[in-house]
Amino acid sequence: MKIAVVYNSVHHKNTLKVLNAMREEREMDLFTVAQAKDVDLSAYDVVGFASGIYMNKFDQSVLSFIGHASLKTGQKVFIVYTCGVPYRDYASKPRKMLKEKNCMLLGTFCCRGFDTFGPFAKIGGIAKGHPSETDLRRAKYFICDIT
Ligand SMILES: Cc1cc2nc3c(=O)[nH]c(=O)nc-3n(C[C@H](O)[C@H](O)[C@H](O)COP(=O)(O)O)c2cc1C
Repeated sequence: MKIAVVYNSVHHKNTLKVLNAMREEREMDLFTVAQAKDVDLSAYDVVGFASGIYMNKFDQSVLSFIGHASLKTGQKVFIVYTCGVPYRDYASKPRKMLKEKNCMLLGTFCCRGFDTFGPFAKIGGIAKGHPSETDLRRAKYFICDIT
């Protein structure tokens, strides 16, 4: 099974840590948005979309990529995100976009990620130690479960 993930992980590479943990369980090709522009995603059985959460939103460049991507009907997809404070469903936008493209959503994984944005820097950040070993173990279970 061929798996690709298109991601953006700019703050502390928290999301990339999660993807690398998943990659220990399943072979997968990871592409930044810039790299993914030259990739034929139709060659993959499963495509993931992943990012940190910035200003209450899934990364805009990943959303824009989804908007322009030519994904085949029934394409199996999944969503991954990390955020400082997981108090709401940050995957609702990409999920809606992928449904509109008639993709088959296999699941969504999220966990907290170390966050030193803005005022949080003054207190040494929040969600210290995340993604934790437990988060990464959950990530591995997730990818094994959906693929
Ligand atoms: C500019 C910026 C804005 C952020 N906004 C939010 C936010 O609205 N909600 C939240 O829970 N976390 C927020 N965070 C924290 C990140 O989502 C969190 O640290 C995430 O794990 C970063 O992922 P990354 O290291 O893969 O980029 C923000 C971080 C940055 C840098």
